[in-house]
Formats: sequence, C-alpha cells, structure tokens
Amino acid sequence: MQEFEIKKRELDFRTKEAFKTLRTNIEFSGENTKVICITSAMPNEGKSSISFELAQSFAVAGKKTILIDADLRKSVMRTHYRRGNVKYGLTHYLVGKKTFDEVFCKTNIDNFYMVFAGPVPPNPSELLGQERFSTLCTQLREQYDFVIIDTPPVGSVIDASIVSKNTDGVVVVMSSGAISYQFARKIKEQLDTAGARVLGAVLNKVDLSGKSYYGKYYGKYYGKYYGNYENSDNPDKKDRESAEAK
Ligand SMILES: Nc1ncnc2c1ncn2[C@@H]1O[C@H](COP(=O)(O)OP(=O)(O)OP(=O)(O)O)[C@@H](O)[C@H]1O
Ligand SMILES: [Mg+2]
Repeated sequence: MQEFEIKKRELDFRTKEAFKTLRTNIEFSGENTKVICITSAMPNEGKSSISFELAQSFAVAGKKTILIDADLRKSVMRTHYRRGNVKYGLTHYLVGKKTFDEVFCKTNIDNFYMVFAGPVPPNPSELLGQERFSTLCTQLREQYDFVIIDTPPVGSVIDASIVSKNTDGVVVVMSSGAISYQFARKIKEQLDTAGARVLGAVLNKVDLSGKSYYGKYYGKYYGKYYGNYENSDNPDKKDRESAEAK
C-alpha cells in the first residue's frame, strides 16, 4: 500500500458550507448512492478541485471514502496534490500490471483514500470500458461508504459517459457563465443516453463580489451575519470563495 500526505488547509466559511450542502444533498439522494462520478461539459470547470474537496468532506464526516482520479488523459491530481513516494496509479491496475492494493494510497486524513491516475495510456476510453474497471467499482462499493470518481469533460471525450455507467450517480460541475443553456442540455442528454443517473449540478466559480447577482444575494442574506469572514486572511479565500454548491 502506498502512502500520501495531504497538506491540510482550512477552507473559508462559505466554501465549507457549500461542500456540506453538496455532501448532504448526495447523502439524501438515496442510501445506494455511493459511487459518484464528477464531470463537466468543458475543461477547467473545477471537477478535480470539487472531487478532492467533496471526498475529503465525506471523510471528515466519518465516512470511509476513496477518491479515484479517472482522468487518465490529464491528471491534475498528479501535479496538484501528489507528494511523497506515489509510484503507481489506476492505469497500472487497469492494464493488469498491479493489484489494487498496490495502487491505492492511504492518506494522513482518517477515512480518506486515493488512487492517482498513473501514466497516460494510449487508450483511456477502452481501459475504462473494460470489465476490470466495472469489477473494481463493484468491489469498492462494498468496501467504502463513498467512492468519488473524477473524470474528463463530457463535451470533449467519451470517458465520463463510460465511467458513469458503473456509478450510482453523476454530479455535473458547471463553471458560472462558461456554457450555454443549450449545451448544458446536450450534456445532460448525452449522460442520459449513456444510462447515467444525473444527481444534479454544482455551480462553480461564481462571482460573489458585491455587484454580481450572487454577490447581492449573499450580501443580503449572509453578509451581515458572517461579515468577519470577508476580513479573514485565510490563504484560500481568494481563489476558493466563489465555490457554491447547488
Ligand atoms: N471555485 C473556484 N474558484 C476559483 N478557482 C477555482 C474554483 N474551482 C476551481 N478553480 C481553479 O480552476 C482551475 C481548474 O480547476 P480543476 O483542475 O479542478 O478543473 P477541472 O474541471 O478538473 O479541469 P480539467 O477539465 O482540466 O480536468 C484550477 O486552477 C483551480 O484552482
Ligand atoms: Mg480535472
């Protein structure tokens, strides 16, 4: 078993609340909603960040959780979060070179386990479409309370649709203002056609500055209660404060 150390960081109040809401909504989606695929229409909408924080949020709440980086083409986790001596990932397992015990990582956070993507294979869709991957999902469903799977964008490659077949539900991350309503509908249709159960969407990268629509909303309803938050010098504040789960 590999080990991986996560640098702990404190999220700001609004971000924490957003992840709690997302976690609770997923928990209320049904007791058999355990294996969850996170995807989006376009690249860069925040799938990997949200997968990582959501999985941690479940773990911190006492749920045994594993995060699987199934973006075999462009693993952000590998570059963003990888520390320590992690050599093997999902690709090694899918091609049969390693057992699952050899590729998964225990982390320094209780209940939180991870599998990194591994080296980029020439045929990611085929590997994810194989029985080895579906069998793995079935086994992990038995062993963990939650399995969170990060995938590439649906609008670019077929991988997320393939992965979603083995999951109990899909959460679609949408970066505020990034795609049209029509495109969002097309993505939903594509996931429906693949047989996926779309649990809902996360609206990410929302502008919460005073002038924006969401800024006014939050200013009015929460600002007066949590005004001190705005003055906090939390290092995460700048780039994370716009995360809002719906
Ligand atoms: N709520 C947010 N506010 C500000 N920046 C964010 C937010 N969520 C994600 N980001 C930033 O956006 C960038 C893309 O995020 P991330 O890698 O999670 O997206 P992704 O959808 O997984 O991208 P890809 O399609 O390339 O895999 C990163 O630099 C991340 O730090
Ligand atoms: Mg990503």
